[in-house]
Amino acid sequence: MDKIKIDTKMISYPMPCSLLGTKVGGKVNFLTVAYFSMVSFKQPYIMAALAKSHFTTPGIKETGAFSINIPDTSMAEATDYCGMVSGRKFDKSKVFEVFYGEESGTPMIVECPYNLECKLVQTVDLPADELFIGEIVAAYTDNRYLTNGVPDMAKIDPFILSMPEMTYVKLGSPVGRAWEMGKSRIKKI
Ligand SMILES: Cc1cc2nc3c(=O)[nH]c(=O)nc-3n(C[C@H](O)[C@H](O)[C@H](O)COP(=O)(O)O)c2cc1C
Repeated sequence: MDKIKIDTKMISYPMPCSLLGTKVGGKVNFLTVAYFSMVSFKQPYIMAALAKSHFTTPGIKETGAFSINIPDTSMAEATDYCGMVSGRKFDKSKVFEVFYGEESGTPMIVECPYNLECKLVQTVDLPADELFIGEIVAAYTDNRYLTNGVPDMAKIDPFILSMPEMTYVKLGSPVGRAWEMGKSRIKKI
């Protein structure tokens, strides 16, 4: 085995980029979040980790709701901007056209191909961050992003953050079908 140990702070797994929206003191705000993930399948739950110091963080607890908006590659510059400036000093409510979730009133981004409206169900207190777990109460897209009625990632055109190079990267080519490729190995058993 040729494994070597590396710095645990250099964990650099590629992460999809999102714009998280909520209201803070009644004001719409968006910040860039790469630390987000689905956490439950049967119950559509999603989690996002936010630094306690961010302007947005208390807004999620205040309103009990947030949105996860998936930008496409044409929105990379605006996404980067929202991850560099704070709503404390800059008004990020006008960066995008905003619409509001029917279930929670949380703000979402019209320009993003894919929007998830979430109601806060649990907060986990971490040393520097807070982990927000939300139930996805509604998902929004546009017909032009669907193929046979389901979201088509080739049309949505999301991008990931690759940390070692601090670079945004487009989705690549398919490797194979999930829950299909492994079957050949099962057959050999
Ligand atoms: C690509 C990218 C990804 C980011 N991901 C996260 C994240 O997952 N969690 C987090 O707390 N901050 C993350 N940030 C930092 C915040 O988006 C940034 O500090 C932002 O300005 C905070 O805004 P606010 O003070 O208006 O809440 C990220 C920034 C960038 C550029």
